[in-house]
Amino acid sequence: MSATIATTPAGHAFISDNMAGAAPEIVQAVADAAAGQVLPYGNDPFTDSARRRLSEIFERDVDVFMVSTGSAANGLSLAALTPPWGSVLAHPDSHIHHDECGAPEFFTAGAKLVGVPGDNSMIDPDALYAAVRRKAGDVHSVQPSAVSISQATELGSVYTVAEIRRLSAIAKDAGLRVHMDGARFANALAHLGTTPAEMTWKAGIDVLSFGATKNGAMTADAIVSFDPELATELGFRAKRAGQLASKMRFYAAQIDAYLTDDLWLRNARRANAMATRLGDGLKAIPDIALVATPRPTSSSAACPSTSPKDSSRRATSSTTTGGSRGGSAWSPPSPTAPTTSTSSSTRSAATHADGPGHRRRTGLRRVRLISPVRPELLPVMTPLGPRRRVAGGGRERSYGRGGFTSPPGVPPAEDRRWRSS
Ligand SMILES: Cc1ncc(COP(=O)(O)O)c(C=O)c1O
Repeated sequence: MSATIATTPAGHAFISDNMAGAAPEIVQAVADAAAGQVLPYGNDPFTDSARRRLSEIFERDVDVFMVSTGSAANGLSLAALTPPWGSVLAHPDSHIHHDECGAPEFFTAGAKLVGVPGDNSMIDPDALYAAVRRKAGDVHSVQPSAVSISQATELGSVYTVAEIRRLSAIAKDAGLRVHMDGARFANALAHLGTTPAEMTWKAGIDVLSFGATKNGAMTADAIVSFDPELATELGFRAKRAGQLASKMRFYAAQIDAYLTDDLWLRNARRANAMATRLGDGLKAIPDIALVATPRPTSSSAACPSTSPKDSSRRATSSTTTGGSRGGSAWSPPSPTAPTTSTSSSTRSAATHADGPGHRRRTGLRRVRLISPVRPELLPVMTPLGPRRRVAGGGRERSYGRGGFTSPPGVPPAEDRRWRSS
């Protein structure tokens, strides 16, 4: 294969959990599903089975819409919860804000994303309390309509069930609906050791973007709705968005296999364990300081600046001078392709996390090892010497009309071209 990238000698790449391949069980399930003829558009036994399994794990009947990407799941879910004149309250670090190319705004026909700050990429309840009431009823302003939380977050942090309940209660009290971006749902669940039901509908979640791709599927995520009244609308929206696959059986076979014999939880536990191991290993290296506590799929660290050519300091060589980031994936190293990146237990990448300006100022090259992280929004920047924690506050930056707050010291928006989802 020509499309390989250089990795560490051990054969690990650390850019993203999307670099991992697919679990053999899932590949096999897709191959098995290829035999024979079944009805199209989700009227097949694979889809039935996947739906049944999801209803089982969530301990109630759920409506399921299988989609090809997490962005589709998020955009369609939010569209079902938010009118065009509404707003979606989300953390400024959220994927829906940063990395979906305006898809939520597109799918909602123009609803606005409004940032609600909080440490560790988690929405602060007091800030949410104020946001849900802001300009409510004022015809000159968008109307707060939905709250979206990421579980696990883009930083790898995880809301406790109590925290989800609290945010949901604040939202519901003001008449808002609640969406969960669960691109890494399994990682969060395995970390908390709770049940899917407790972490979602029992805690007030109305609609879940149930991720599978990042945890072993080939390409299949699902919208799981806990509100039967949304089912018809979600069905039409999915079709209109080109997300009603004619050969739905192949998505369904992936989700079905993902949920069989706890594959999804086994993969998540492995990824979480690898993140912890990675963090522990980094902590042991002189001059590297973790700047955030490793959570399920993440570690963050800072180390002295090195030459872009000093590959011994860098986990991979995909980009050059700034810093690095990455995290853990579900999969073990590939025995057959040790020098490619397609199968790794941990990942990282060198990126322009801080940019040359930051390196001149601090002498640090920031290293982060986080699955879904948006590096420039990490709440912490650690120079050598005493650690400095930047919590909350920060200067106001305008993202479109949203006016999100970012921590001080973050690079300007135009420096973000290097980021990947
Ligand atoms: C938190 C989060 N939500 C949603 C997504 C969207 O997934 P996709 O790239 O499949 O659209 C990602 C992708 O990395 C993510 O990190």
